[in-house]
Amino acid sequence: MMKILSVVGARPNFMKIAPFIRAIEKYNHENGGGIEHILVHTGQHYDIRMSEAFFRALKIPDPDINLEIGSGSHAEQIGYTMISFEKVLLEQNPDWVVVVGDVNATLSCSVVAKKLNIKLCHIEAGLRSGDMTMPEEINRLVTDRLSDLLLTPDTLSSKNLRREGIPEEKIYFVGNIMIDTLEANLKEASKLQLKKIIGENLVEGCNYPQISPVDNGYAIMTLHRPSNVDSEEVFVPLIRFLLSEVIKGNLFIWTIHPRARKQLITLGLWDNVVNHSSLILLEPVGYHEMIRLNIGARIMLTDSGGLQEECCVLGTPCLTLRWNTERPVTLRKNGGASVLVGNNIERIKKEYYHTLTLKRNPSRPELWDGHTAERIVKILMTLPNK
Ligand code: UD1
Repeated sequence: MMKILSVVGARPNFMKIAPFIRAIEKYNHENGGGIEHILVHTGQHYDIRMSEAFFRALKIPDPDINLEIGSGSHAEQIGYTMISFEKVLLEQNPDWVVVVGDVNATLSCSVVAKKLNIKLCHIEAGLRSGDMTMPEEINRLVTDRLSDLLLTPDTLSSKNLRREGIPEEKIYFVGNIMIDTLEANLKEASKLQLKKIIGENLVEGCNYPQISPVDNGYAIMTLHRPSNVDSEEVFVPLIRFLLSEVIKGNLFIWTIHPRARKQLITLGLWDNVVNHSSLILLEPVGYHEMIRLNIGARIMLTDSGGLQEECCVLGTPCLTLRWNTERPVTLRKNGGASVLVGNNIERIKKEYYHTLTLKRNPSRPELWDGHTAERIVKILMTLPNK
């Protein structure tokens, strides 16, 4: 019996673990067992809308163990996770620890696993933005350096790892596991009604728009990177530009992340945003709801990595509000749907008006085919053990 313990901590992890767990179940079903799986949630994200809603929507079984570490500085989150996770590993003693993505849970649990000499597998290995001011970049570098099995979503990521001297036999190009989740849920998401999503998720105090959004008739935005949200010099001009220009004549939907909400309140901008007649402010929405909003959007403005990938496959023209990306396959110049616009207002303006003239252009990088998780389980089960 192989014992695998996998870890999730924050929202973007949940869509990556769901297909992995399903693939384990499929393996056990077809082979009469063989894998024991334990799911650990570090508790970094804990709000119903940021966590539990995704477990329900994606039919992820309840975590076997929740470390409940909650919010805090990076050192606090990482430190508390390491202390609690070490106890879990000593008790569980799995053959493999599987971590996904690039959040603080990914880094903390990787370090603890390796220190206890337990084999470590990283799903979504090899992404590099080259930007060491991003907390996620540090998390990726440390995790990949420590991993015994590095599973990459695209061939560029495999190349990054080779360049860093990771031995060839540890690297497997498996495709993008996020797209497994997209494929599995697209049909259900497509059936949702825009009106209903808005009605059910409207932020308190925000009025239901007089004109209902129709497909291809609205812009949608998400923002949560510290580089965009935490600094007043960046955030305030961005919000001013949105309120004065982007919204002119357009419905604009903003699904608000807790980090951005806190900052709007701190800077005294909350009322301006909530009371704007063309701005529809939504609470963080569920997985299917976000896919549906994406399918209907004329344009996406985001700093999320996952949304860049979903825009690529769904074809939604996308402005990436960052100066760099660890996901270059999603860029328009490489066949994807996104363009990097950073946080300079002039640049955003120019690209915004140009992007509005573009048609949807779905594209599918190699092995973004919905079968990544099955490939991963197969690799784990055929590798020489111990
Ligand atoms: C984290 C990840 C980021 C990921 C993002 C998705 C790291 C380093 N960053 O950033 O890669 O793209 O999640 O959301 O791990 N909060 C709540 N409720 C919650 C969770 C958080 O209100 O359920 C608040 C926290 O108190 C904090 C803020 O939201 O003030 C940010 O949370 P935090 O866990 O620090 O990271 P994110 O910015 O969400």
